[in-house]
Amino acid sequence: MDNETSSAKKVKVKVPGTSANCGSGFDCLGLAATIYNEFEFTFLEEKRLDISATGEGTELIPTDEKNIVWQSARLLIERAGEGDKIKGAEIRMVNHVPMSRGLGSSAAAIVAGLVGANAVVENPFSRQDILKFATEIEGHPDNVAPAIFGGFTVSVAEKNQVHTFSFLPKIKLKLIVAVPDFPLSTKMARQVLPQSIPLQDAVFNISRASMLVAALIEGKEKFLSCAFDDAIHQPYRTKLVPGMQEVFAAAKKSGALGVALSGAGPCLIAFSAASKKIESDIASEMVQTFKRFNVQAGALILDLDTHGAVAEPV
Ligand code: HSE
Repeated sequence: MDNETSSAKKVKVKVPGTSANCGSGFDCLGLAATIYNEFEFTFLEEKRLDISATGEGTELIPTDEKNIVWQSARLLIERAGEGDKIKGAEIRMVNHVPMSRGLGSSAAAIVAGLVGANAVVENPFSRQDILKFATEIEGHPDNVAPAIFGGFTVSVAEKNQVHTFSFLPKIKLKLIVAVPDFPLSTKMARQVLPQSIPLQDAVFNISRASMLVAALIEGKEKFLSCAFDDAIHQPYRTKLVPGMQEVFAAAKKSGALGVALSGAGPCLIAFSAASKKIESDIASEMVQTFKRFNVQAGALILDLDTHGAVAEPV
């Protein structure tokens, strides 16, 4: 053990990007993917902030009190009753998750702050507590839950509680993500949604979301063909992502099992359990189809993250 007190207050955290909804599971299903933001914290006794970021969206990240990583860390520190001992921090971030694209970059930031602060005050809070705090900050659990637990998640938010069931599917799914070059705010993507939906659309989604979870848990690939489909949010959001339906059709034609808007978009995600060749065909068809609609897009081919956020002392 060394006697440098400052070294005891350092911690590294790695948090996966996430994709909410998975089509039919609007506001309740999510998954964690093998793309990560990395954070190094040095928590300080003095009231001083030194925040810097490299990688995705660097220019958009506040480096003062408004920084969401710091705000989340601070909330946990206060709740742990350590606010008098930890008043500042140095935070270094390396971001790989594209920002404002529907891949959970804000959830990753919130979870990083909470998990990092929890580790430094010797983990008084469980992952379930972290989930509750993260949902309070983010406003919905469908990205923060997979960022914390990894795998596929089903979340139910009640008034004062969030219940999350996390599981690893029996099917080895590849996630093929087309990442358009424009951002889309969740707020705007929610404004286009109706206040109420027809009963048959509710039934459409409930049946498919239930099928999706059952088929993934049991490893029954043949039941996935309809399971990602959605009638309650994607049709209204189509106008926000040029070429969305055509990119979906192209991915399916190239062999995708299912397709969805990733979270509130604009990323589109295709699911495959086939070969590497088919995955790269799907990716290139998605990118080419976007191009026909004057959208420049990159492609990511990812696996499911199985661990969620991880903290380790430095
Ligand atoms: N479930 C949310 C939505 C996800 O679709 O609006 C936002 O990340």
